Amino acid sequence: MSEASDLTAQCVGVLERLGVARPLFTGGARAAASPITGETVAGVHDASPARAAAAIEAAHGAFLSWRGVPAPRRGELVRLLGETLRHAKADLGMLVTLEAGKTLSEGLGEVQEMIDICDYAVGLSRQLFGLSIATERPDHRMAETWRPLGVVGVITAFNFPVAVWAWNAALALVCGDPVVWKPSEKTPLTALAVQALFERAADGFAGAPAHLSTVLIGDRTVGEALARHPLVPLVSATGSTAMGRAVAPLLASRFARALLELGGNNAAIVCPSADLDLTLRAVAFAAMGTAGQRCTSLRRLFVHQSIHADFVARLKAAYASVEVGDPRDPRTLVGPLIDARAFEAMAAALDEARADGGQVTGGDRVPGPGEGVYVRPAIVELKAQSAVVRRETFAPILYVIPYTDLPGAIAMNNDVAQGLSSSIFTNDVREAERFCSPEGSDCGIVNVNIGPSGAEIGGAFGGEKETGGGREAGSDSWRAYMRRATNTVNYGSTLPLAQGVKFEI
Ligand code: UN1
Repeated sequence: MSEASDLTAQCVGVLERLGVARPLFTGGARAAASPITGETVAGVHDASPARAAAAIEAAHGAFLSWRGVPAPRRGELVRLLGETLRHAKADLGMLVTLEAGKTLSEGLGEVQEMIDICDYAVGLSRQLFGLSIATERPDHRMAETWRPLGVVGVITAFNFPVAVWAWNAALALVCGDPVVWKPSEKTPLTALAVQALFERAADGFAGAPAHLSTVLIGDRTVGEALARHPLVPLVSATGSTAMGRAVAPLLASRFARALLELGGNNAAIVCPSADLDLTLRAVAFAAMGTAGQRCTSLRRLFVHQSIHADFVARLKAAYASVEVGDPRDPRTLVGPLIDARAFEAMAAALDEARADGGQVTGGDRVPGPGEGVYVRPAIVELKAQSAVVRRETFAPILYVIPYTDLPGAIAMNNDVAQGLSSSIFTNDVREAERFCSPEGSDCGIVNVNIGPSGAEIGGAFGGEKETGGGREAGSDSWRAYMRRATNTVNYGSTLPLAQGVKFEI
């Protein structure tokens, strides 16, 4: 048996153990490929527009009963989902590796992120609290209550093919909302597996209505169906800024909510006082981890001129030493790019950087199994930010630029259209606090002495400007999935009007 067909057999075996019925991953017209070898491992069926509409209507039917289930009881379903994921972690983590090309450690980490958000949502299901507010009228009470919203459409990207669904689904479900999911066209198999696991969890829950969770495999027409349908009050979409530009106006035209998590172009500043051993490890993980294909990946590095030469030399040595290859191999730190187009975009960006005077180290193809696209991560030394640096290229390219003073470095950090994540490495408390201050980084995530990627679920995740402004996961992100009702209750026998208005009849 060839190496390639071994991989297909491995994929089929994992899918069957995860409970995905064979007809779901055989015979369809959409090819599901593994970036490890580039081979097609399955053929899946696309949802037609009629199927998408029917799924949304069925999910709305589920909403009408689910919204009446007490939230802590809804949390029980999410607890069962978390338990199911714990049992399936090894297989689902492997499937993420097989379909998205992430290292096994990262595939398992992604499933852990799903488990973490489930645990968080279970606790949240006993909170979902509102404020009570002082009223100006006697014998009145004013409070706000949070109510289920309706069907939540979820659009996800290939690079976190399961965790981002979980961030949304775990919160939506405890908030009383069913979920209809359009996964990336590049990762349908992990989505089918997650759906099978959800159904396994729901089987153990007495009284779960059908259609609480639905997967719709397909292209952008499925995403548009979600964005256009009047029974979908919220679409949470993760992906490129271009995708956001297509989805957001459709939602705006019908006043639906958009929770957008779009492109990032994340920077880190390395100050003279930084612990350079720690910084080196943080930069290496943030820039090369997931083969530079996270929305939080580190893409721009500003190093103080006094340590620039030394740090860049150490960085180049680290880059030369990482194992690039089959992500199933435990020694591998950098797996394949998702496809050949990703490499073309990377090569084009490196050519443009060279034309700008950039000095490129790495960026060349390296051999790997089958037709997989493997590349040595690239460092590009530049004097200043040019157009290519300001663009997000979804590949392992790190632009390194010297700086002379912190205000200048912060200005470069902010001088891009995107605003997701950012870091500073320093042992100077003034520098650290300046970076976190109102005059500091303008991003949604602002870190000190850790890299910009690898956020945990307890915090709100998302960013500003072209990143789209949405917040997912922890903190008070759950509020986007609920309708706020302000309740004013008169328990007296007179009718005083607010602002002293008189209206006697
Ligand atoms: C993404 O890349 O789309 O902070 C999400 C991180 C992960 C999530 C990234 N927890 O890198």
